[in-house]
Amino acid sequence: MQNKETAMTLADRITITAALPYTNGPVHIGHLAGVYVPADIYARYLRLNKKDVAFVCGSDEHGVPITLKAKKEGITPQEVVDKYHAIIKRSFEDFGISFDNYSRTSAKIHHKTASDFFKKLYEDGKFIEETSEQLYDAEAKQFLADRFVIGICPKCGNEESYGDQCEKCGTSHNATDLINPKSAITGNVPSLKETKHWYLPLNEYQEWLKEWILVGHKNDWKANVLGQVKSWTDDGLKPRAVTRDLDWGIPVPLEGAEGKVLYVWFDAPIGYISSTKEWAERVGKDWEPYWKDKNTKMVHFIGKDNIVFHCIIFPAMLKAEGSYILPENVPANEFLNLEGDKISTSKNWAVWLHEYLEEFKDKQDILRYVLTANAPETKDNDFTWKDFQARNNNELVAIFGNFINRVLVLTNKYYEGIVPKPNEFTEVDIQTLAKLNEYPQIISSSIERYRFREALSELMNLARLGNKYLADEEPWKQIKTNPERVKTIMYVALQIAAGLSALSEPFLPFTSQKLKLMLCHSALDAESLTWENISTHETLLPANHKIGKAELLFSKIEDDEIQKQIDKLEATKIENIEQVLEPQKETISFDDFTKLDIRIGTIIEAEKIPKTKKLLKLKVDVGIDTRTIVSGIAESFKPEEIIGQRVSVLVNLAPRKLRGVESEGMILMSETNDGKLTFIEPEKDSVKNGEQVS
Ligand code: MF3
Ligand code: ZN
Repeated sequence: MQNKETAMTLADRITITAALPYTNGPVHIGHLAGVYVPADIYARYLRLNKKDVAFVCGSDEHGVPITLKAKKEGITPQEVVDKYHAIIKRSFEDFGISFDNYSRTSAKIHHKTASDFFKKLYEDGKFIEETSEQLYDAEAKQFLADRFVIGICPKCGNEESYGDQCEKCGTSHNATDLINPKSAITGNVPSLKETKHWYLPLNEYQEWLKEWILVGHKNDWKANVLGQVKSWTDDGLKPRAVTRDLDWGIPVPLEGAEGKVLYVWFDAPIGYISSTKEWAERVGKDWEPYWKDKNTKMVHFIGKDNIVFHCIIFPAMLKAEGSYILPENVPANEFLNLEGDKISTSKNWAVWLHEYLEEFKDKQDILRYVLTANAPETKDNDFTWKDFQARNNNELVAIFGNFINRVLVLTNKYYEGIVPKPNEFTEVDIQTLAKLNEYPQIISSSIERYRFREALSELMNLARLGNKYLADEEPWKQIKTNPERVKTIMYVALQIAAGLSALSEPFLPFTSQKLKLMLCHSALDAESLTWENISTHETLLPANHKIGKAELLFSKIEDDEIQKQIDKLEATKIENIEQVLEPQKETISFDDFTKLDIRIGTIIEAEKIPKTKKLLKLKVDVGIDTRTIVSGIAESFKPEEIIGQRVSVLVNLAPRKLRGVESEGMILMSETNDGKLTFIEPEKDSVKNGEQVS
């Protein structure tokens, strides 16, 4: 087996971190697919393999997005974070994300840990202290750092880059690097004002970072992660401010730093440490080995927009502090889109976890399955409700559920639920059991290389193996002619079912639990259903053990359930469009309206006006006459394709000359925000040219 080595060298103590979600909104499927589901699979897998795991997370409650949200809703930042912290924490629990601890960065222990960390670096002389001119919004009386300022990205030209990071190209920069900056609070062009800050000189860590990551991990870190690290270090790292002039955050623990707080990306990753401390205190452990013992392996699960912070800034902080270990890997994922569009919290374009849990009660595993099977591990992927339905109906129900159901129903029917004693194994039985024995190793190997979708597809291959075995051996036929043979067949099939119950735990924890209870309802303790026991079926699910009744593990999802979700998204789309529609114009009197003479007409000739981009010269039959009209529609329509087009025309508009051509009216069009034009034409062909529109 190709990966025995990795399996054997895997450390015994593992610290797993999952990016702290911002508490400016609930958690959605993009977060789940990118971070929390893979991290949870990994943690569960390691626990099953008897590793000493600390799986920590918590709410990221500082930072500008939270202040902005509070401003928008007219509440305090504390109220914002309290609200979303509660929703997020609860939905993670209900979804079965098995954090050992879920903390929050407003917790006392975190404030102290982050302050102490900063003080240590300060006292060790690791910062540069510098007074410089920073962007300032005089109207809002506020320095403009991070998301308080928007401008053109100096690297890629994105017009909506934030002060600290461009979401288009991922570059992290200083707010003063932005071209044409604008305040996100007032829209004003900022002025410059002097202020003092503390900087971490990332340039001093550059060579060390390159050596550690680009050389040391060139074979075991993901290509997207290595690529981003290379691009930043190639550009040359610069000192980076780790303090801000804001009133929401952890106060800078120095004299003369009143009104300043730690940069959110300085305090948030320290949240992993405080969460570990909080957990250790609660369960009576020592937190330090999880962060300082060289034999501990640390893994950060994040999305790709967090790579710079976890591969450059946080490691530089840890290195500067001196006593901490560094991550063994940072398996960052790409993004998940939703029905072809980028997921967006502000546009409400998302499937929210807390809503899913309400609408699909007890169906956590379907979502876990779909998000893993379609995980954006190496490229952006798309979530669609149709795919969700298909994967449930064609894979979970038809393959996994179907196999389990057949095994349990037949065992109950033939043997009153008692696992039969096998007779002599045939060649096929021996091969099938041998294959089953390989699965723990196959799945381990994929998980340990962070290939969760591959691991899950192997799990499904085991269910497929079970289905094929039953279909080939046909116990339902042989029961009449060769009942002794059927005992062996059912024994083998039951071992596969038992194997599935153990191996599915990291991916489908609710299903695994249910299946284990079905298989071990009383006599045998479900604890025998383990990865190790799979290779020794005598202890996995031995003969004479009594299993329980068959219950359905998965059920079909009907079209109407899916349509409901699609309609919900459709409604969001319409809302978003409405939001950006132009506001209604000033009221006019009825007399004003009757002054407009609008007639139905037909375009009978059309030609481009030379040396113009937009203009067409049209001849339009408007019933009362045929006249020349100049229309700015050349970018949307070719002259030849609009001959015969029915139109609505404002005929009493004062004539005017456009490029030397006199225009005697105006063609009415509807126009979308992005400039798509449509003719306003009569619904019925029988409407005659010259009929009035009123
Ligand atoms: N809140 C950040 C985000 O959602 C992630 C913070 S990760 C941590 O993108 F390392 F800072 F904790
Ligand atoms: Zn950019």
